[in-house]
Amino acid sequence: CRVQQWDSEEPVPRAELLAGVAGKRGLLCLLSDRIDGEVLEAAGPSLKVISTMSVGFDHLALEEIKKRGIRVGYTPDVLTDATAELSVALLLAACRRLPEAVEQVKNGGWTTWKPLWMCGYGLSNSTVGIIGLGRIGQAVARRLKPFGVKKFLYTGSRPKPESAAEFEAEFVPLTRLAEESDFVVVTCALTPATQGMCNKDFFCRMKKTSVFVNTSRGAVVNQEDLYDALAHGQIAAAGLDVTTPEPLPADHALLSLKNCVILPHVGSATYATRNTMAVLAADNLLAGLRGEPMPHELLL
Ligand code: NDP
Ligand code: DGY
Repeated sequence: CRVQQWDSEEPVPRAELLAGVAGKRGLLCLLSDRIDGEVLEAAGPSLKVISTMSVGFDHLALEEIKKRGIRVGYTPDVLTDATAELSVALLLAACRRLPEAVEQVKNGGWTTWKPLWMCGYGLSNSTVGIIGLGRIGQAVARRLKPFGVKKFLYTGSRPKPESAAEFEAEFVPLTRLAEESDFVVVTCALTPATQGMCNKDFFCRMKKTSVFVNTSRGAVVNQEDLYDALAHGQIAAAGLDVTTPEPLPADHALLSLKNCVILPHVGSATYATRNTMAVLAADNLLAGLRGEPMPHELLL
């Protein structure tokens, strides 16, 4: 192959992408590259394969891509463990107030051992609600179960008894999941149906002692409604690995809250996982260019 590469960790500027893609047969992109009609138009009819180094594909205009007969590769499975691990880390950081506690040690707030100081909420005997019991959702449940979780609830477009059996998880409507969960973990894909799904109505139904964690996509959450819920004590805490926009501006209101732990979209960020994702993305592209089955093709 002859390869034209944007050789930087920074996102390719839009103008460079539009100019560079012209006349190419394949495109390897990241989740930060919006591949829409404009990019496809700039590429022209030569473009046959798009390979994204991500499992999420909400940045790809799939209808347009399908219309043009372009094949798509993506990176499921290889990042499931790393993302589930990070989801658990974020949940524990939020419910046990770890960033706040670390800050207290550094700034002299730790004066002595006090009975109720820095208390949070634990997983033992809790009810955990998973929004989207897919690959990552199941891997999160598998990791949380040994913490003594009493009950798992889940929601999605349909019940998945085969996936739920391992956790004896019960399929419930979103409203019931909000009302009964002590911990809500969002691991669904971003789709028109899930966009803005966690909104004022959702947070108002949650318990005042419950903790909300999102490692899917920022747009699943209405962030103004989440801010209100956290600021007014409607819910206890939140942990977000994904936000709208990304990066979240350093002066964003959510960053002023002690009960909101925000990470910079690092769910899959282990060296091994990112290397495996990169190799899989390249293999998908090469297979697509050769007209062979891809290791992981997204069926359109
Ligand atoms: P899967 O396709 O295995 O799971 C996606 C889940 O979303 C499915 O279980 C699906 O359930 C669910 N879903 C779809 N529609 C709805 C709905 N209306 N309500 C509730 N759930 C719904 O994908 P993965 O588990 O591999 O990845 C999930 C997402 O996680 C990715 O799309 C990506 O956005 C995000 N991600 C984030 C990372 C990070 O760094 N923070 C890392 C990796 C992924 P059903 O089958 O019932 O429709
Ligand atoms: C994905 O793959 O969709 C994640 O957001 C990054 O690994």
